Amino acid sequence: MKDDSSIAQIAAMLREEIAARQPGDRLPSSRELMRRHGVSPVTVSRAIGQLAAEGRVITKPGSGAFVAPRPTPLREVPDLSWQTVALGDRVIDDSGVTALLTAPPEDVIPLTGGYLNAAMRPDRQLSAAASRAVKRLDAWAAPPLTGVAELRGWFARQAGGEVTAADALIVSGGQAALSHAFRALAAPGTTMLMETPTYPGAMAAAKAAGLRTAAVPMDADGVLPDLLAEAFAVTGARVFYCQPTLHNPTGATLTGERREQVLQVARAHNAFVIEDDYARYLTDRAPTPMVALDRYGTVVHVSSLTKILAPSLRLAAVIARGPAAQRLRAGQLVESFFVARPLQETALEFVSSPAWPRHLAAVHTELATRRAALLAALAALLPDAEPHLLPRGGKHVWVRLPPHVDEAALVEEARRNGVQVSPGRIYYPAEPPGPRLRLTHSAAVHVAELTEGVRRLADAYARLS
Ligand SMILES: Cc1ncc(COP(=O)(O)O)c(C=O)c1O
Repeated sequence: MKDDSSIAQIAAMLREEIAARQPGDRLPSSRELMRRHGVSPVTVSRAIGQLAAEGRVITKPGSGAFVAPRPTPLREVPDLSWQTVALGDRVIDDSGVTALLTAPPEDVIPLTGGYLNAAMRPDRQLSAAASRAVKRLDAWAAPPLTGVAELRGWFARQAGGEVTAADALIVSGGQAALSHAFRALAAPGTTMLMETPTYPGAMAAAKAAGLRTAAVPMDADGVLPDLLAEAFAVTGARVFYCQPTLHNPTGATLTGERREQVLQVARAHNAFVIEDDYARYLTDRAPTPMVALDRYGTVVHVSSLTKILAPSLRLAAVIARGPAAQRLRAGQLVESFFVARPLQETALEFVSSPAWPRHLAAVHTELATRRAALLAALAALLPDAEPHLLPRGGKHVWVRLPPHVDEAALVEEARRNGVQVSPGRIYYPAEPPGPRLRLTHSAAVHVAELTEGVRRLADAYARLS
């Protein structure tokens, strides 16, 4: 006998025998087992293989099989409940950011995520830049505390206007920049204004900084300056966080006229504008940053490299002037000293090399192709999902669904059907106006997968209708 049942029988008998013996004891030889049970050598070796895979037996070629050491029994789970009392109820809510950073399982197509697909990332050129950077003699020394001077100069030139390298502070990514800026500019318990909808990571950072938030509505041209003025007046807020270019999630870009109006409104209320310019490099049609229009230190500008290069290139610049800049620098020093020099030198190597303009051009072309493919697939397969606007770049399309649609049920059904989409709900600080989805086109492997993702979403939608 050498079928599966006979292997299982021999294995079961040997398990009993092992239980009765001590670790290190030799088991009967294969020949002996064959004789005892009237089975073939293959059956015996498969049964012993199974026990070895279970960790019960150790085989030593030429010597035979031995009883394996018993696993050490699990120690009693320590009682950590005292920590709950010691920590109090100051919960940090990471649900918004965790949802953004969690990749779906292999067989689920991602129409979510905030970074470039691996195929679009310049990984080889980044590695080459990193190896050039670490070969520098001073690569592991402390950098100037506000950041490597040439990198600060590069960010300042990108921002334009009158800002200089001295106004730029290098921090570890856009999210850290927002946390620093919120903590530096607004005291716990005070109110910060934000567009609605907005980036969940900003809402989470504001909450973690102990801030209240108040939402200011927007349309396809960005935030509404009249309502911004009203919100400043009603709340007494001194900070407005916004994303004037390729706003996440709607894709809106604030018009030139409204940029001036927003600055006037903020100045009239002696308030700061935190300009999160996270998507500047995801389009070849980015308007002049607001910081370049500002002569009064109103704008605190945040510019990150992760979105255009790689999530682990955790570098961003915060550009500010006056006492606000001083407070930001002090905050960064107290919290984390400075950003690792090799990372700063790597970014500098990359953006100073011919790889940078080449990469920008390649990404702009690919994003335009993907955006067109996503919109075409939606029009053909899911016409009920109405795009809010045609974004001039970026990675997302924001769609409105008919009011009767159960957004949460659709997201869940879509996931069961093999596609992950972002529910609109997570982008609203308060009640959403209706069902929405954010659909990302930069995370799928290629256009065919993107289209298949929309087909799966349309199937899920049809099933719920
Ligand atoms: C609008 C916006 N700002 C900032 C960030 C933070 O990005 P990072 O910390 O990778 O620079 C994100 C990431 O999704 C974002 O969408």
